[in-house]
Amino acid sequence: MCGIVGYVGPNDTVDALISGLRRLEYRGYDSAGIAVTDAEGEISVRKRSGKLARLEELLEVNPVVAGSTGIGHTRWATHGGPTDANAHPHLGDDGKLALIHNGIVENFADLRAELGDVELSSETDTEVVAVLLGREVAATGDLETAFRNVVRRLEGTFTLLAMHRDEPGKIVSARHHSPLVVGLGEGENFLGSDVAAFVSSTRRAVAVDEDNIAIITPDEVRIVDFDGAPVEFAEFEVEWNADAADKGGWSSFMAKEINEQPESVENTVRGRISGGGVVIPELAELGDERLRSIDRIIIIACGTASYAGQVAAYAIEQWARIPVEVQLSHEFRYRDPVLSDRTMVISVSQSGETMDTLMAVKYAIERGVTTVSVCNTQSATIPRESDAAVYTHAGPEVAVASTKAFTAQITALYLVGLHLGRVRGTISAEESAQAVAQFEELPAKLREAVDTHEQVAQLAHWMADTRSVLFLGRHVGFPIALEGALKLKEIAYIHAEGFAAGELKHGPIALIDHGQPVFVLVPSPRTAPLMHSKVVSNIQEIRARGARVIAIVEKGDTAVLPYADDVIRLPLADALFEPLLQVIPLQWFALELSTVKGLDVDQPRNLAKSVTVE
Ligand code: F6R
Repeated sequence: MCGIVGYVGPNDTVDALISGLRRLEYRGYDSAGIAVTDAEGEISVRKRSGKLARLEELLEVNPVVAGSTGIGHTRWATHGGPTDANAHPHLGDDGKLALIHNGIVENFADLRAELGDVELSSETDTEVVAVLLGREVAATGDLETAFRNVVRRLEGTFTLLAMHRDEPGKIVSARHHSPLVVGLGEGENFLGSDVAAFVSSTRRAVAVDEDNIAIITPDEVRIVDFDGAPVEFAEFEVEWNADAADKGGWSSFMAKEINEQPESVENTVRGRISGGGVVIPELAELGDERLRSIDRIIIIACGTASYAGQVAAYAIEQWARIPVEVQLSHEFRYRDPVLSDRTMVISVSQSGETMDTLMAVKYAIERGVTTVSVCNTQSATIPRESDAAVYTHAGPEVAVASTKAFTAQITALYLVGLHLGRVRGTISAEESAQAVAQFEELPAKLREAVDTHEQVAQLAHWMADTRSVLFLGRHVGFPIALEGALKLKEIAYIHAEGFAAGELKHGPIALIDHGQPVFVLVPSPRTAPLMHSKVVSNIQEIRARGARVIAIVEKGDTAVLPYADDVIRLPLADALFEPLLQVIPLQWFALELSTVKGLDVDQPRNLAKSVTVE
């Protein structure tokens, strides 16, 4: 939530900031702004409500000749609505200091009271901190000292970047429960909420640790703690390049990312299959004894990631014979969960920064359980805090609606299940080899599933005026039904609900009326004949009440034909692998319905990609 970027160096500062913000806009797009040192050495601010394009328009009519230092911000509003005045950066009351902020300062009212009757120009918590910090610089004569004094007093969550007129060529930044990375250039350095902010200029990065302050100049990066003691840091190389985060000719990032799923799943599996079984080196490091001692797994995640967890729970239980439950991260720590040193908590997060999930992981760590992170973002906070990190190698996901991260998460969790099953001796060599064979065949099958696009697009065009869509699934199809509904709500703003197929007759069937569209995920008649026949009966029940049935079936399944209005056919796969294919037409459907309605597919209203507030 909120994207932040900082630049110090000899190149075009405005360009560096705008290009960073463009890649971070998925984090929030209520407003955008920059502050730079200008040709006179003064601080100039340009900011505007709305998307980044509006700021770029402003810069065309009111350009700024920038010096060597600048900070930029793209906002997801928390304190104060998305207005020009509330956009960041904010200035201190002497106009010499500019500040941007990601997070929420919870004690801002107390701090505001300290400022006396100074008139503020916005309703934000950030401006209060900017004024406080500006005054502290005036008192101490030094930005770094002042910054340390102020951040120690803040409660809540924050990444802060500050620059001061009297110290050009320097940006001081801090993080507390909110992400911050440094980009290391040649004679230039960068700061960002994530590496996307600078990956077009450098792939050398440093993840700043919790409660640390990073100070950058063109030639130096220093990190200290909140008391000013130096902190050692290690750099890492970003695995992907700037092209991976470009739209590359696609109409939207979401379309590009749906299309990338054969590769992203393949990349997630790569290097983790050995001799007909699965070996995840990151889990092996925990030691087989520890893995054998686990008697309960809790998967914690939010939204789409939690549905990936729900799908995988079936597979992990089957292969590792350990009871698995899935809990929403934001509910987990409030229920006083029963945990022991034999519990494993697996967090699932694309961004690795979701505050709800991070807090749940910290809670688990405090209680001494084994924590494993399934994450798509290198060196993000959650994998760094966890005992082991199993990365999904889906590449950067830019569209707010998660697609390729979802299938990569299911893949990684399945691999975890197979690794545990092997170590614990609960999976036979034959079963393991069969799962491995499924993984090997998966990329080609995913490609076929992606190729349903045209058929699904037609459906979406016919259904452009639909006001409500239901989704039904059974077993692993149930979380896919929930995911199909979430995608539609999120980007097409349509009422949608997912149900377990068997649950319908316990209430929701009353919703079925003439013409009500219902997507039904039909299990394979070959591998799950009993479930298949039950779902076919469910289809008959809703059809008899007037539903318009869109059945997603495996090729060759003709049992549903008499009762379905539309049939989407997918390649054959074992029951546990069907969800990876079934979700793809649902992703396309949401994308196409959003497009038909003229909505912004990649940046749906009110949302942001990385939810770093609780
Ligand atoms: C929906 C979506 C969200 C995320 C959720 C968790 O399309 O993307 O529901 O899945 O906010 O985000 P991460 O995976 O970054 O923790």
